[in-house]
Amino acid sequence: MVKICCIGAGYVGGPTMAMIALKCHDIEVVVVDISKPRIAAWNSDELPIYEPGLDEVVKERRGKNLFFSTDVQKHVAEADIIFVSVNTPTKTRGLGAGKAADLTYWESAARMIADVSKTDKIVVEKSTVPVKTAEAIEKILTKNGHGIEFQILSNPEFLAEGTAVEDLLKPDRVLIGGRETPKGQAAIQALAAVYAHWVPKENIITTNLWSAELSKLAANAFLAQRISSINAMSALCEATGANVSEVAYAIGKDSRIGPKFLQSSVGFGGSCFQKDILNLVYICECNGLPEVAAYWKQVVDINDYQKSRFVNRVVGSMFNTISGKKIAILGFAFKKDTGDTRETPAIDVTNGLLRDRALVSVYDPQVTEEQMRRDLSQEKFAWDHPAHIQPASPASAQKVGYVMDPYQATKDAHGVCILTEWDEFKKMDWQKVYDNMVKPAFVFDGRNIINPEELRKIGFIVYSIGKPLDPFVKDVSALV
Ligand code: NAD
Ligand code: UDX
Repeated sequence: MVKICCIGAGYVGGPTMAMIALKCHDIEVVVVDISKPRIAAWNSDELPIYEPGLDEVVKERRGKNLFFSTDVQKHVAEADIIFVSVNTPTKTRGLGAGKAADLTYWESAARMIADVSKTDKIVVEKSTVPVKTAEAIEKILTKNGHGIEFQILSNPEFLAEGTAVEDLLKPDRVLIGGRETPKGQAAIQALAAVYAHWVPKENIITTNLWSAELSKLAANAFLAQRISSINAMSALCEATGANVSEVAYAIGKDSRIGPKFLQSSVGFGGSCFQKDILNLVYICECNGLPEVAAYWKQVVDINDYQKSRFVNRVVGSMFNTISGKKIAILGFAFKKDTGDTRETPAIDVTNGLLRDRALVSVYDPQVTEEQMRRDLSQEKFAWDHPAHIQPASPASAQKVGYVMDPYQATKDAHGVCILTEWDEFKKMDWQKVYDNMVKPAFVFDGRNIINPEELRKIGFIVYSIGKPLDPFVKDVSALV
């Protein structure tokens, strides 16, 4: 029986390994992590991440050919194929701080693999890493590995949160990069054989190592670029009276452009886009390509602009002061169908509102109060450094109310900001919300999920990203 061990039981390691176990009953899969609470959760009825369909997959294979353990060294030593799916955060200090990928966790995993291995291994980069990381990892492994043969593969993951199970079941492609030597090619074939249990052969792409590593960064950069492009258009729509949804639909009908990833929003969030683009920018700079670096940096800059533009609209529309006014935030997760808040635009928006002294009340169906408190009190980029997680500081986090019910959040509020596109916000009783709010009552829809005309009929003053401005918002914004 082939044995797979995955180091890192996170959003990627957990679901990807569960899918391999589901589809390959002839393979034993063990997911290991240094975090005891995380492994305990994977072994419990309350999985550590919320992902539609994942509970069923895990429950079906756990204890059969899917295991979760903190005994990292034992399972690494026993495995034939080792996936490494640990954090690769943005560096917070030193050379490249704020841009370069921090490979501390990756390197410590590699050194441990070299220490404990007694048989030849295939080591698979599952984490998103800078181009040429495989070369560095190869050096660490071969110089410390006591003559053991290691083949390094790059097998980046393209799943999106909220649809991870679906994405893993039917991936657009599986990408495997390896050395162009006979042993490298054999390793590629060994990994391809795992995926071939359920992925059609024509969807399993093989490349050299550097193409695979770079393709992951490029894919995220291209996806995020589409969002920043439509968000840049949303600002122009508001200035001209065009409607960003109509523009997105019209351009998306062009088969060369396509309709996906053109949903204007308060900004993209998530653990990947910003981190990976900053990493790409840094790699370009290090390779003497400042113009290319500047081009991709704009994608992140427009995203920051979109978030601050949203806060400015809230403050500007409410007579340039939100001091002491209650503002409800509906949705804190970075997108619907996940409890993940990493780099969620809600953090920057909430902090922006707090800077203007608003009284903020937040509701999200999947995010805990503890998580929101931590997010609002953490330094930029600190969230992805498991070793450095800072305790929640009382500063801003304490000024926020966290509630379990959207109607409680909006009661006595002056304004409502929709920051995550949860389906339940589309179906809310907006008349009831309006009746319980201070007048004039404002709705700022950062996800374009409500019908502005219907809410205006109720009496709300409505701002929807990239839609023609409410005459009230236009008039007041012109005054301030
Ligand atoms: P995560 O923080 O959810 O999980 C990483 C896990 O690795 C943590 O549980 C941590 O405790 C563990 N870990 C860190 N160092 C370790 C070590 N030395 N030994 C054992 N365990 C260790 O992160 P994630 O979202 O799963 O992302 C992992 C990688 O995959 C990152 O490089 C990320 O960029 C990439 N990625 C993420 C997504 C996504 O949607 N989240 C998608 C594609 C790629
Ligand atoms: C992304 C990539 O899609 C995935 O392939 C990669 O493996 C990891 O990074 P993820 O961050 O989980 O996945 O979610 P995604 O659906 O890409 O959304 C990212 C952010 O962009 C979210 O905040 C989402 O709300 C926002 N978004 C997405 C928009 O604002 N508009 C869109 O049209 C699409």
